Amino acid sequence: HLSFYYKYSTLTNRMLLLGIRCWVLVSSIAVVVLIIIGGCAEGSRPHRILVDTDVDTDDFFALLYLLKFNASQFQLEGITISANAWTSAGHAVNHIYDLLYMMGRDDVAVGVGGEGGILQNGTILPNVGGYLPIVEQGMTTVGGCRYRGAIPVGLGGRLDIDANYGIRKAFLPQGTRKYIPLQQPTAQQVLIEKISAGPITLLVIGAHTNIAIFLMNNPHLKKNVEHIYIMGGGVRSSNPTGCCPKNASSTCVPMQCGDRGNMFTDYNTNPYAEFNIFGDPFAAYQVIHSGIPVTLVPLDATNTIPINEEFFDAFEKSQDTYEAHYIFKS
Ligand SMILES: *[C@@H]1O[C@H](CO)[C@@H](O)[C@H](O)[C@H]1NC(C)=O
Ligand SMILES: *[C@@H]1O[C@H](CO)[C@@H](O)[C@H](O)[C@H]1NC(C)=O
Ligand SMILES: *[C@@H]1O[C@H](CO)[C@@H](O)[C@H](O)[C@H]1NC(C)=O
Repeated sequence: HLSFYYKYSTLTNRMLLLGIRCWVLVSSIAVVVLIIIGGCAEGSRPHRILVDTDVDTDDFFALLYLLKFNASQFQLEGITISANAWTSAGHAVNHIYDLLYMMGRDDVAVGVGGEGGILQNGTILPNVGGYLPIVEQGMTTVGGCRYRGAIPVGLGGRLDIDANYGIRKAFLPQGTRKYIPLQQPTAQQVLIEKISAGPITLLVIGAHTNIAIFLMNNPHLKKNVEHIYIMGGGVRSSNPTGCCPKNASSTCVPMQCGDRGNMFTDYNTNPYAEFNIFGDPFAAYQVIHSGIPVTLVPLDATNTIPINEEFFDAFEKSQDTYEAHYIFKS
């Protein structure tokens, strides 16, 4: 999840903003992939990759981008879903299944996770599938106004993210894989299977709940994780006045722009927070302090690759593939 856009009510604004944010995310994934290519020796085996995602719009753009690479160099092994943000587990799984089917990749394992990872007494459960961030699972210092609880869903509930406004079913072909409640592999099962099988790179582009629970439960498998690329956080916030000019009157409300965080629903009290870290800070702590090499691609880094109207127009005219078409429609 890169950013929020609900605040922007007109369609044009939404499209432009979403376009900007998505391009920015795809660019970041491109940066990540290029970094990985840099370390790719001639004739070596493919880089095995696992992506942990909250399946927001920007994330499935990134997944399509990743799937365009030659699988003999970049082999996507698994996708684990963090249902900690706005997406509902079943819809998220089906969306990913449909995308993979369109890309001819029904071989990619998909696990969903989050719920019930830590009991009240501190016991960490070995295998969880579901929906709640660690911070909401009982070791609680939280009230209803912190973490995910601080982010109200939009007027249409989660329909937008769950159904992609209907575009998902209207556009994507559907294969035979479907979400079945209580039978869906959990994120922990997929992580254990894929990480046990050999060296692997993790791309974490949602909240860190799944990866943190995995690392806390399976310290012996850490050695197989070569690198973790994190899409999250904000490092250089060089725009302390937000969108408001320095001499603005007090009626100017800072909004999502510039280098600050992206918690628009909590912007005034928490201008620097970034969603993926905010969604489960304890989990992010576990991942960043795991001892595994980490590359952080923060929100502000994405501002170096903006999209403009010219790009948007060019993209509109280049709809040569189903992938491009789906992204543009989305
Ligand atoms: C993918 O890469 C392999 C090895 O580098 C090459 O032999 C193959 O032709 C490539 N496939 C495509 C579709 O480019
Ligand atoms: C924690 O609670 C669970 C469920 O109530 C129980 O099965 C487990 O034994 C408890 N663990 C400890 C260390 O008390
Ligand atoms: C703020 O400053 C700019 C130029 O520095 C000026 O054009 C603008 O009118 C000012 N706005 C207010 C609200 O004073």
